[in-house]
Amino acid sequence: MKNNFPKDFLWGASISAYQAEGAIQEDGKVLSIADLSTRDENGNCTNAISSDFYHHYKEDIRLMGEMGAKVFRFSLAWPRIMPEQEGVRNEAGIRFYHQVLDELEKYGITPVVTLFHYDLPVTFQERYGGWQDRRTVDAYMAFVRICFEEFGGRIHHFLTINEPDILFMYGGHGLDLDGRDKWKKDRLKINHNFALAHARAVNLCHEMLPDAKVGPVFGYVPVYAESCRPLDKIAAMNISERQNHFFQELFLNGRYVRHILEFYGKESELPEITEEDEKLLRSAHSDFIALNYYKSDVAKWCEEEARAQEMQGNVGGKKGTCVYPKVPGCYELCANPYLERTDWDWEIDPTGIRVMLREVYQNYYLPILITENGVACHEHSEGEEVQDDARIAYLDGHIRECGKAIEDGVELMGYCVWSFLDLMSTGHGAYKRYGLVYVDYETEERKRIPKKSYRWYKELIENYEV
Ligand code: BG6
Repeated sequence: MKNNFPKDFLWGASISAYQAEGAIQEDGKVLSIADLSTRDENGNCTNAISSDFYHHYKEDIRLMGEMGAKVFRFSLAWPRIMPEQEGVRNEAGIRFYHQVLDELEKYGITPVVTLFHYDLPVTFQERYGGWQDRRTVDAYMAFVRICFEEFGGRIHHFLTINEPDILFMYGGHGLDLDGRDKWKKDRLKINHNFALAHARAVNLCHEMLPDAKVGPVFGYVPVYAESCRPLDKIAAMNISERQNHFFQELFLNGRYVRHILEFYGKESELPEITEEDEKLLRSAHSDFIALNYYKSDVAKWCEEEARAQEMQGNVGGKKGTCVYPKVPGCYELCANPYLERTDWDWEIDPTGIRVMLREVYQNYYLPILITENGVACHEHSEGEEVQDDARIAYLDGHIRECGKAIEDGVELMGYCVWSFLDLMSTGHGAYKRYGLVYVDYETEERKRIPKKSYRWYKELIENYEV
């Protein structure tokens, strides 16, 4: 394979706090709204067990170091660091992350840290009613300030809010605790407050930590037109502008794409956008863009008289159970006959990552970091190495396309596999596995067993270094 990757390329892997740490009420941590929304069929919090990174971080980071990782992307848990009150620190939580950073330093691994990956503490949810209330933005900023003060000397790459676009499109993670209808009504306000929080965090980072870099994280889904019928192209543009461009313009250029705001405004209440908000949004200049990529979409024209259909994701992992959405007079999504799908009906499309990188780069010309890319599989181990050849093929294909994107001129800083170890999937529980390292949920000690893909990735990093 032609090696286009620069020597200082950040090869790495990702996790997020609420999906991997466990220990959800330990050492002063309170529950988050994401904890509440992730229950198994018996009503138990599945991330209460999770992969227990909280107690295994030393072993996990050692494995990361041995793999040759240059970067580790994880999140700081707000309910661990500032559980109760604005500005009131939980020293045990802060100590935990210092210990994580100590371990990373030992192995020369650069931390890239998300400040919000879905875990709003229930304490703040109860006090302010959630992200639809601006006071939650102030609370987030109090948390961010603590993170910058405390870790600013040790962390030089910050991400503000994980995937506001995907949160807007699909909700979940506790944003819809009061029901889907309420969330739908509020989602433009929630998104506006995410944008304000992002802009304030970017500005505060530049003010307090002039050497640090900060940016947003998007979950980008490139869209193909089903055919060369001109209306199919319009349909593809319609959905791409609604799920990708609208958010990028807001978070990167501080600009609302008005006609899309109005489109969403048909079913959601419009947020109050003050002149001050507009000024703030425009004042925040990100240093880089983080992108999460899993799949692409195909769109075709949907006639005005068609019946609307909501997207119904395949949550059970049984191939072929996903129902594609239809938005009359705008677009509908459909299967891609050229691509295989995962058991959760996500299209496996390595070229799509190259498409995404080019589309985003040519719009913003900022360096890009892939913070998530990976594939979920049904896997089981009785102690032996999992032979996850499908994951290896997926990662290999996507990494090759990243190399081509670099050749195309994209400034790509690094690539992180989602996920370093098996963890709780956001929508589908612990048994939708993404990890390079298997976690045995059946045993109390959550035994770690590196998969074949771990060995493969280690070799890849070694080869690319030379
Ligand atoms: C991204 C999120 O949207 O996709 C992760 O940032 C998530 O938190 C990942 O785990 C995969 O999605 P899922 O629903 O399969 O866990």
